Amino acid sequence: MSVTIKEVMTTSPVMPVMVINHLEHAVPLARALVDGGLKVLEITLRTPVALECIRRIKAEVPDAIVGAGTIINPHTLYQAIDAGAEFIVSPGITENLLNEALASGVPILPGVITPSEVMRLLEKGINAMKFFPAEAAGGIPMLKSLGGPLPQVTFCPTGGVNPKNAPEYLALKNVACVGGSWMAPADLVDAEDWAEITRRASEAAALKK
Ligand code: 3PG
Repeated sequence: MSVTIKEVMTTSPVMPVMVINHLEHAVPLARALVDGGLKVLEITLRTPVALECIRRIKAEVPDAIVGAGTIINPHTLYQAIDAGAEFIVSPGITENLLNEALASGVPILPGVITPSEVMRLLEKGINAMKFFPAEAAGGIPMLKSLGGPLPQVTFCPTGGVNPKNAPEYLALKNVACVGGSWMAPADLVDAEDWAEITRRASEAAALKK
């Protein structure tokens, strides 16, 4: 059954943003996160094995909801859909990518910063967006400011979010979940420290929305 963007944003308070360098890490890493309670996973298309990682996780970790991140053009959009991505995340949005994504029917969480970007997406019927790069783009004050004139939009702030500031982001009315890499940073993945990744995932999953 296909997932909706609302489910993507409300199933867990934190969406792990995953950069996987080695294919053999894909399944144990996804299992470690899901075991900790984080089911919605964003696999970024930043490594040569990313598409195959999506395929494997889909096949072997049935409880995971697997999305593809770093989608920056129609080519990567269709590669991700072909690999079985259930939703798509993009750091920003172009007319071309948006039209192709809407035509494909795949749920998309497009990246924005400014009111104009938000308004363009609202015109296309999209009201769930990634706020990226969250900390660098003004963080919590910026999200509060956007919530004044544009209260109908729900955000997933990502970029610079960490265990310390995540609760403050999640306390905002217009934030449904946050994205971040702190549960599965490269050093823990390289060390195959799945237990610590599960522990961090459990802490993240327990954050209140
Ligand atoms: C990224 O670009 O990798 C994501 O936004 C995650 O950012 P983070 O590493 O600051 O959590």
